[in-house]
Amino acid sequence: MKIAFAGKGGVGKTTLAAWVSDYLARQGAHVWMLDADTALSLGQASGLLSASLPAPLVTREDLVRERIGQGLLAISAQVDDLPESLAVDAPVSGGNGSGSKKLLVMGTVAAAGSGCACAANALLKALLAHLFLERNDYVVVDLEAGVEHLGRGAIEGVDGLVVVSEPSFRGLETAASISRLAGELGLDNQVLVLNRVASAPASLAVEGLPDRVVTFPPMQGLVERQLESPSVLDLPEQEDIDARVGSLFAMLEEGRRK
Ligand SMILES: Nc1ncnc2c1ncn2[C@@H]1O[C@H](COP(=O)(O)OP(=O)(O)OP(=O)(O)O)[C@@H](O)[C@H]1O
Ligand SMILES: [Mg+2]
Repeated sequence: MKIAFAGKGGVGKTTLAAWVSDYLARQGAHVWMLDADTALSLGQASGLLSASLPAPLVTREDLVRERIGQGLLAISAQVDDLPESLAVDAPVSGGNGSGSKKLLVMGTVAAAGSGCACAANALLKALLAHLFLERNDYVVVDLEAGVEHLGRGAIEGVDGLVVVSEPSFRGLETAASISRLAGELGLDNQVLVLNRVASAPASLAVEGLPDRVVTFPPMQGLVERQLESPSVLDLPEQEDIDARVGSLFAMLEEGRRK
């Protein structure tokens, strides 16, 4: 299963991606966590120190040159060794289980080095295609905020989309745009996460949202933790979070089988 997280800025995409990855790893899965955001925060949210995070792939001009050249041979670029060689291991909480989490910091094309951005883009796409289409592991992608970046390249091969929103009209409108765009790209297996809501609303005033919804309340433990650490794992609310992540995951699995 390849799951992507999209939504407006600051709604909780990275937090949810970190929770889902950790949940899956605790169930024994091998999870690739892909940070496709400019803020490089999935690693920190997962308890890694920023000093231990690798440089974003798109800024590695050496690699881009080596694997892509001028961008003309992108289709045949050899990337299957890159996930293992570029990833850093993230700790699985409570973890002596058999699962694992590996973080790949992809970066975004906007962050690409001064060389040809299209070559960096080609490398990014080749690596995504490899992970999505040729690997059987779980992949969790933390996408960049907003709708502009949600292209075929970012989500081709993704089979479950989590659209994260805060409970506001504007936020839901962005969520609906994302949902529509992803639907046009053929990704219909979508779940809406309403983050930081005390209870599930009876109905939503915005059209075009995914019809399956999971809510997450404001987590007091996270509010307090945030003052001292970027990690969103091992919270006092772990059981509640796991129950909600479990139903989110079950919905995505069920939607994939249809
Ligand atoms: N349910 C929650 N309860 C309490 N705090 C939360 C909750 N969800 C997210 N947060 C906090 O809100 C902030 C924003 O969350 P996060 O970084 O996951 O959003 P994002 O959508 O990835 O943002 P960006 O668009 O900047 O990448 C973080 O400080 C996070 O710890
Ligand atoms: Mg984020």
